[in-house]
Parts: sequence; structure tokens; C-alpha cells
Amino acid sequence: MSELEPGELFEHPDRNLAMELVRATEAAAIRATPFIGRGDKNAADGAAVDAMRKFLATVNFSGLVVIGEGEKDDAPMLFNGELVGTGNGPQCDIAVDPIDGTSLTAAGRSHAISMIAVADRGSMLDASSVFYMSKIVTSHEGIGVVDIHRPIGENIRALAKAKGKSVEEMRIAVLDRPRHEQLIADIREAGAGTRLILDGDVAGGINAARHDTRIDMCVGIGGSPEGVATACAIKALGGFMQGVLHPMSDEERQRGLDAGLDFDTVYGLDGLVASDNTFFVATGVTDGELVRGVRRAGPIISTESVVLRSRSGTLRRVSADHQASKWLEH
Ligand code: FBP
Repeated sequence: MSELEPGELFEHPDRNLAMELVRATEAAAIRATPFIGRGDKNAADGAAVDAMRKFLATVNFSGLVVIGEGEKDDAPMLFNGELVGTGNGPQCDIAVDPIDGTSLTAAGRSHAISMIAVADRGSMLDASSVFYMSKIVTSHEGIGVVDIHRPIGENIRALAKAKGKSVEEMRIAVLDRPRHEQLIADIREAGAGTRLILDGDVAGGINAARHDTRIDMCVGIGGSPEGVATACAIKALGGFMQGVLHPMSDEERQRGLDAGLDFDTVYGLDGLVASDNTFFVATGVTDGELVRGVRRAGPIISTESVVLRSRSGTLRRVSADHQASKWLEH
């Protein structure tokens, strides 16, 4: 048994926690399945939130929801500031998104995931007062090479060189939004190709940092909570990420300033999540490049998940077969 380091007063989350957390994302994905393609994103999200919350309550940890479903009054469950878990075991910050891609799920489109990120207590940036963040994510080849303030064409050329690829081979993931019209034009002007994503820039960012995907970079403005959750995964992948908060109004800017946030700061991985002990788990709701969606074959429901842990630098895939009858009973 390892001895506590001097000054180490509380337990840190360990590898067992990650496997426990997978049960919660699996449950959320399974419960969301009946709502895939039904056109009701709130119903899908509600089912996923209920299931995730129920499973989290059984996990031996004290998780402070830093990134949840929103403020208490609007989000009766998994709201920011809520404590989840049994209260025993390590004290952690937790970011949850029972479905990243609620619209994708409602429409029956690909790439929706259920995700949880965990890190030591007090280490996640609380960016909840500012909705959007400008982000750039790459694999480790981007470290010291890419910079969020540089023109996108320069970043693409520098990363292509570092990866030993031609610019024409580079694929850049961007959320397909009117606000990215110029960014998309600039990427194509530089000679690279875009991978336009309808939603879900957490999976987009992770795919940009993984070694066996066709995406080289994920860039653009997306949710700031999603940015912090993505950082927990990118730490485990040894990748590169920067974020700059992007307020949409003077009121939002003021709220951010009041919360102690800074709009000139380029948040690197350590600024987004200070701990080097991060966990990220995700289960596919619908099929995607990161994980397969939930499948039902007769009495069996199958799920696919990824478990990432920064201490060990591992990405594990967890395939599970669940007895459908057990899920119908509850
Ligand atoms: P939800 O499924 O939670 O709505 O988030 C989907 C998402 O695409 C995120 O992945 C992304 O960060 C954010 O929305 C982008 O926001 P917007 O849709 O306003 O551009």
C-alpha cells in the first residue's frame, strides 16, 4: 500500500472510479435510446439526466458538480453546485453532460455521446457564467507549434509540418454555424479540408487529439463547459488545447468578470483543469467516430464507452452487453 505524501490530506480519485463512472454514462445512453429520432430533445435529455443521477448516487466519491445542466431553478437535477455520490471516498470536481448532442439524438443523427469528466476538487475552471469559448485542439504534435491567436492558415501549415503531412491531407473539424463562415473559408483557402460537425465538439476535440482518426484539429467557438470537459480528456491523451472565453454581450462579459474570469487569458490545459489527475468517460448514444451508439439485439443491449485517465495516459474501450430485461424492470 502506498503511503500518503506529506501534506496529502485527502484521497485522490483512483482508477476504480473511472469504471464506476462508466456505469452512469452507460445508463444515460441506454435510457436516452427510446428517444432517438423522436424529435423531442428535452425528453431525451431528461431520461439521460435521471439515469445518470441515479447511478452517480451509488458511486463512492463526493463529486461537486462544477459543470452541470445549468442553474438550480432551471435544472432540478445535476445543477451546478450540487453534490453527487455517496459522500465517501475522494473529493472531486465533476462535469456532466448526460447527452452532448441532444439535437443530434432527437433528430436521429450520429455523434451523440453521454459524458462525465472528473478531477481533483477545486481544479476545474468554473466558466459557467460565460456560455461560449473559442477553442483549438490537436494531438501532441501541436504543442509549441499551434497558437490560438495565430491565423488559422499558419496553424494548419505548422501542424501539417509537425505531423509530416501535406496541408491538403489536413482535416479540420468545425461546428457548422454561421459564426464560423469566415473560419471555414480560411481553412479551405489554406488548402485544408473541413469536417463540419452539426453538434458535439467534445467528441470533435477528442478525435482531433487521438492518434487513429482522420481529424487533425478541432477549432472554433463552442460551449465553455464542453471546453473544460474536453480538457480533462485531452490531458489523458497528451494532446494540445487552448481556450479563450467568448462573451456574446456586455452583460455576459460583466457576469464573467464578476465571477473572476478573464477574457484576455489564453487558457491552456492547466488553466482549464489544474489537476493532473483527470478522468473522462463517454458512452455512445448514437454511432460516431469516437464510440458506437447503443444497439439492441433481442434480449441484449450493447454499449460502447471510452475511459480516459491522465495519470496513466490511457484510453480504454469498454464494450458491455446488458440484459434488456433488467432495464425494462426499472
Ligand atoms: P447540447 O447537446 O448539450 O445542446 O450541446 C451540443 C453542442 O454542440 C456542444 O457540443 C457545443 O459545445 C455547443 O452545443 C455549441 O453551442 P451552439 O449550438 O449554441 O453553437
